[in-house]
Amino acid sequence: MVAVAILAAGRGTRMKSDLPKVLHRLGGRSLVERVLDSAAQVNPLRRLVIVGYRGDSVRESLAARSGLEFVEQPEQLGTGHAIQQLLPSLKGFEGDLLVLNGDVPLLRPQTLQLLIKTHQDNGNAATILTAQVPNPKGYGRVFCDGNNVLTQIVEDRDCSQAQKQNRRVNAGIYCFRWSDLSEVLPKLTSRNEQQEYYLTDAVNYLNPVMTVDVEDYQEILGINDRKQLATAYSILQTRIKDDWMAQGVTLIDPDSITIDDTVVLQPDVVIEPQTHLRGQTIVQARSHIGPGSLIENSQIGEDTAILFSVVRDSVVKSGSTIGPYAHLKGHAEVGAHCRIGNFVELKNTTIGDRTNVAHLSYLGDATIGTKANIGGGTITANYDGVKKHRTLIGDRSKTGVNNSLIAPLVIGEDVTIAAGSTIHEDLPNDCLAIARARQVVKLGWRLKSQTENK
Ligand code: UD1
Ligand code: CA
Repeated sequence: MVAVAILAAGRGTRMKSDLPKVLHRLGGRSLVERVLDSAAQVNPLRRLVIVGYRGDSVRESLAARSGLEFVEQPEQLGTGHAIQQLLPSLKGFEGDLLVLNGDVPLLRPQTLQLLIKTHQDNGNAATILTAQVPNPKGYGRVFCDGNNVLTQIVEDRDCSQAQKQNRRVNAGIYCFRWSDLSEVLPKLTSRNEQQEYYLTDAVNYLNPVMTVDVEDYQEILGINDRKQLATAYSILQTRIKDDWMAQGVTLIDPDSITIDDTVVLQPDVVIEPQTHLRGQTIVQARSHIGPGSLIENSQIGEDTAILFSVVRDSVVKSGSTIGPYAHLKGHAEVGAHCRIGNFVELKNTTIGDRTNVAHLSYLGDATIGTKANIGGGTITANYDGVKKHRTLIGDRSKTGVNNSLIAPLVIGEDVTIAAGSTIHEDLPNDCLAIARARQVVKLGWRLKSQTENK
């Protein structure tokens, strides 16, 4: 039986931000959301989030997640003081308490599972996650005997010069037998350099306490400033990209590509340089994205090609080509085997299979049938200044270059519209529509000045 507590009350002064540190975002999710997501993997019975500095915004940001218990730490008097606030909520709790830092977002779920397993298999009072790091500055140092049994944790500020040489550090991640911890929490004092109540002191009272070394020390990176936030982002990116390459995705110049960990890619997808895949995006097999594209919260079918384009909240079905320089947004849906070409913007528009919109068009709030052809410069006038209206174009219809389609408008099937027409009345099936002034030619006509100069 495990309860999880997340320390999220601190302000994070070194971020130099109005936002509480744990609400800063790392690749699409806030730090505290990431910590909650790794905690979810151990199936905790209860999840307690300790909030303090701007606690309301932390609560609000997590409002969509059910089952969280928020515990207020009104003053931030240290990590030990934070855990003391749990005493009323966890009164009589019989299980183990997993303590996570809200600012340590890169932990792998397996690491937490190993920590809990070691704790339970050995019947420990506490088990501490540790790592050997190249630069231990700022971390508490952990001292053990030969069997990973802890002898002492000393905070960086309280270390002697000799102790500072120890590169084994406290990750700030612990598993405690709650019945033991709850007895020692009231004994903590703030007699240290920072005059804070240290959770690490509680560890010194408990027995037996073991350590578990994490293999990849990058997992325990704590975010205290913007530079560490950037470092965490690049560690995360390396993980995500290595993983997709291992699963059969080609990344050309991976350093110039970013991929959120919510994205799903299928085998033989090729991602070209300067391409960014974000949010709930799926790219299906053999599609070719980039160079220079941004795809966000979108589904891209098999065998598509997207070049120098932006696709947001939209769907592209198999075998279609998008771009260069197309912009799909607001639930655009492109059917199979379509061509959406240069400088085309689609907003809240559905394009049927095998329809082309090859150049220089804006289609907003439109539904286009199959095998239609939208001529260059076709613009839907979808907004009358007050409301948006829809334009419907039937199967196999062809608009001409520079057509203005004034919505609401229904254009039937197999319609042809002449170039330069402004259409504001519905068109039936099988017709030709011409809506432009007839060309006038006046033979022998010249400007007066031209006649004089002759
Ligand atoms: C802590 C550990 C240190 C460890 C390091 C790992 C202590 C005394 N030290 O130090 O051994 O190496 O983490 O990153 O625990 N917080 C609260 N309430 C408070 C104080 C802090 O909720 O009153 C939260 C912070 O928001 C943060 C976390 O606890 O998420 C850690 O606090 P921080 O002050 O950053 O501790 P460190 O000095 O980094
Ligand atoms: Ca910290």
